[in-house]
Amino acid sequence: MRDRTREIEDSGFTDHVLVCTNARDSDYAACADAHGDAVYDAVADWLRDRGVFWSPVQLAETTCLGLCSADGTAIAIHPRSRWYSDVTPEDVPELMRAEFGHDADELGLGPDDEPPLGVDDATAD
Ligand code: FES
Repeated sequence: MRDRTREIEDSGFTDHVLVCTNARDSDYAACADAHGDAVYDAVADWLRDRGVFWSPVQLAETTCLGLCSADGTAIAIHPRSRWYSDVTPEDVPELMRAEFGHDADELGLGPDDEPPLGVDDATAD
């Protein structure tokens, strides 16, 4: 086992975006059937367009985040501890701007920082 924390910190890492692309063979909703791959691609494109893809912002597909919905994909962003469900590809630019700023100039917020403005609260339905 190798502890590579320092290496990642030295690379300029600020944020980790996890996009659920989980598929399941059952009647329960899964993000693979709710735009998971397209949302992942939209996040990657947004980060690439601003020159922050992978370093400083890492992006990863993940299995279930516990926010399953048939209406869109789940996203978690750490270490700021933000959690979204029902994300469609069309939602990605607004979500990313709210979290990271228009030009990705608000990277590296912590969990105690103010929540972003401009993104609907998915729990307010
Ligand atoms: S399948 Fe994506 S959050 Fe559960």
